[in-house]
Amino acid sequence: MQNVLTMEKLVALAKTRGFVYPGSDIYGGLANSWDYGPLGTALKKNIIDAWWKRFVTSRRDMVGIDAAVIMNPKVWEASGHLTEFTDPLVECKKCHTRYRADQIDVSAACAHCGTRGEFTESKNFNLMFKTFLGSTEDATSLAYLRGELAQAMFVDFPLVLQSSRKRIPFGIAQVGKCFRNEITPGNFIFRTREFNLMEFEYFIHPSEWEKHFEYWLQEMKAWLKFLGVAEDHLVFHEIPDGERAHYSNRTVDIEYQYPFGVKELYGLAYRGDFDLKNHMDKTGKDLRYTDSASGEKYLPHVIEPTFGIDRSVLVTMLEAYHEEQAPTTEEGETDLRVVMKLPKELAPFKVAVLPLSKKEELVSVALKIVDDLSTRFAVDYDETQSIGKRYRRQDEIGTPYCVTVDFDTLTDQAVTVRDRDTMKQDRVAISDLCAYLSGHLPTL
Ligand code: GAP
Repeated sequence: MQNVLTMEKLVALAKTRGFVYPGSDIYGGLANSWDYGPLGTALKKNIIDAWWKRFVTSRRDMVGIDAAVIMNPKVWEASGHLTEFTDPLVECKKCHTRYRADQIDVSAACAHCGTRGEFTESKNFNLMFKTFLGSTEDATSLAYLRGELAQAMFVDFPLVLQSSRKRIPFGIAQVGKCFRNEITPGNFIFRTREFNLMEFEYFIHPSEWEKHFEYWLQEMKAWLKFLGVAEDHLVFHEIPDGERAHYSNRTVDIEYQYPFGVKELYGLAYRGDFDLKNHMDKTGKDLRYTDSASGEKYLPHVIEPTFGIDRSVLVTMLEAYHEEQAPTTEEGETDLRVVMKLPKELAPFKVAVLPLSKKEELVSVALKIVDDLSTRFAVDYDETQSIGKRYRRQDEIGTPYCVTVDFDTLTDQAVTVRDRDTMKQDRVAISDLCAYLSGHLPTL
């Protein structure tokens, strides 16, 4: 039996099991700020590592960079972010609650105080986070936390070209934090003011943009399949003229059916030469590329696939969450089993080692197994509570295999390996355990 998954259930599990906690919790929290706990950190890192391997290290046409969060403010002038990177804002005249004008009906009542139709005129609110460099706080020291990763890939384009000797088409990838002073953050880690992105700028000849756009759309779909996202939970939304970001000639938003509605997950944009052209105009540096075969000199165009990391974590968890009627116990009790059917590559722990009791002879064998397996896999060890409760705990955090050390182990030198999804158990010799698990666990 599958019950409806609500955000409340997911947020509660995320907190109790250590995936994601409310930020600054002991100070009463900070609205819309979240901390990744030990398991969330592992899940997020596994997603990033898989992404990097898939899109960077396993490809000949991609390189990675790791740029500064604070760039020369002139970058953001050239990119248009200081003027165009805005959301429409309205304010309730009575209680001064602020809303995004494109997300509410301005003739309706204020969701906070109930006053009807009393909103200010919509004005553009800039999302860039301001800061000051050094000890003075004036216009000369004004700087910004990056609102997107992309600008470093454009600004570093000539240096990457020179140092890596890549030929077009090729991409520059980056993973890191971005900051946006969102008017209405919310829905757990879906929309926050600091968030993590993985993206690349793929530099191409202008005549080939349609081919590359289609190719990257298919690659993004394949990545989502790898995360375990069902295709019928996705919506591919062609953003019409007039609604795209200021830099984009074509955008397809990949949307997902979250419990709170269909909303953006990732974006794919054709940025043309918008950014390189603006940086060339602003700096006077020639950013054109010379094709060594044809001698043609041109400004490359860019296809940009962007993957929000926090939204990747969110949809991976939403898709993995299952509730199942567990088999009736010997005492006749039925139970609901919550199991995170995470892709095995992404599970925070691959294996949990569980001695049946805390008796020294079992614990010492179990800990020896932990030490041996830890050189290959992320291993958890748990000796508290009943074995049934420990299985359930590992199910809830998505551990693909539980290895139980029991009293027979002391004589047959074998352990029981339980599969998270089928709950089937195999008896495996300790000497074969590592090979058994390697055979069942895909490597990243
Ligand atoms: N360089 C292009 C770019 O940044 P975007 O559509 O503004 O494009 C890309 O953002 C992705 O970043 C989104 O598809 C989403 O996954 C993620 N994202 C955007 N704003 C976010 C926020 N406030 N909190 C969490 N993720 C966000």
